[in-house]
Amino acid sequence: MVERNADVAKMGRNYLFHEIAKRKKALLEKEPGTRLINLGIGDTTEPIPPSVVEAMREAASRLGSKKTYTGYGETHGKWLLREKISEVIYNSKVSPDEIFISDGAKCDVGRMQLLFSRNVPVALQDPVYPAYMGASVLSGKTGGAQDGGSYEGIHYLPCTPENGFTPDVTTLPPGTLLYLCSPNNPTGTVLTRDQLTRLVHFARENRCFLLFDSAYAAFIQSEELPRSIYEIEGAQEVAIETSSFSKRIGFTGVRLGWSVVPHKLTFADGSSVWKDWSTLTSTLFNEASNIAQAGGIAALEKEGLASQRKLIAFYLENARLLREALSPLPCYGGEHAPFLWLPLRSKSSWETFETLLEKAKIVTTPGVGFGPSGEGFIRISAFASRSDIHKASTLLQHILLQKADVEVFKNREQQRT
Ligand code: MLT
Repeated sequence: MVERNADVAKMGRNYLFHEIAKRKKALLEKEPGTRLINLGIGDTTEPIPPSVVEAMREAASRLGSKKTYTGYGETHGKWLLREKISEVIYNSKVSPDEIFISDGAKCDVGRMQLLFSRNVPVALQDPVYPAYMGASVLSGKTGGAQDGGSYEGIHYLPCTPENGFTPDVTTLPPGTLLYLCSPNNPTGTVLTRDQLTRLVHFARENRCFLLFDSAYAAFIQSEELPRSIYEIEGAQEVAIETSSFSKRIGFTGVRLGWSVVPHKLTFADGSSVWKDWSTLTSTLFNEASNIAQAGGIAALEKEGLASQRKLIAFYLENARLLREALSPLPCYGGEHAPFLWLPLRSKSSWETFETLLEKAKIVTTPGVGFGPSGEGFIRISAFASRSDIHKASTLLQHILLQKADVEVFKNREQQRT
């Protein structure tokens, strides 16, 4: 028999969203016909705008004619799409050549681990999107799981209301790979320009790398807040940015993303990260779907961008309605991100998840699934229809806004301030 990969065995419990799907399925088996409101996984619900659908339809039609059929494309993605991303998203601060088109940010996060030696220390904002931890464990950068679901060898940097959701990096060893996600999944908070500048300086002084995930950048409503790490001087020497069309234009099922690997970025031995990423992607990946890329190009044209703004305004209005409904409670996020991060009074986050599932038929995400510091919180996603948001607001109010809870929270907030 062939030996099992010991790093996969370390993963233990299912990936967070599979665990949630399992629990939803169990409830539906127990209570068939129940309609659940999904405020759990951040999956877009509004249709893809017409100009983008039309571009994909045309691309599909071209594949059906002998004259216009094309097979394999350009390995790192269509040049036109790379140019558009460079201009529209990065204001030409990065060149099209530094942009690698992919099938989504999550896939790139996984592949990217192959760039780094197994000995590279990994640091994560805690809580954060679980795929970063999963990719680090699977690529052998950690020891076994410890109590509480954390892994030996990973530096968990608590991001809590007490520290303004900013990771304290001062104790990290030189040469650390630090994942940053802003706007943050799950807390919905955004790193300010000052905070991000300090992190870039730290990385430069300590020869660390930043893997910056900007999948939710299009939700940022203020010009003061950075949408990309490359808005920070000197970031091109220490940061890779990965991003996606999923949440900005409804491509969670279509699959299209990109990573920016600047030419200036080098490993400890002085060799080029760009060259290794180019080798890796051309070995393991054959360009993103040409239909999806046609949609991506349309999404960045005038009409697509106007539709994108409407979609984002719709989800942010959902978030505002949820915040308003829960307003006696302190609630984080939801202003520049489609996620709300809600502190709980006493129950564990899985217990609250179960209560909301059983009593209100609402699926949320338990905070602890995003890291040890997520215990005591639940994440509520604003990706839903307006009618589901109205229904959920009433149900959540009923269950979460008990008088005692509100008093406890008011006292806790007073102590904090
Ligand atoms: C989430 O809900 O955290 C995300 O939708 C998951 C993902 O993007 O893979």
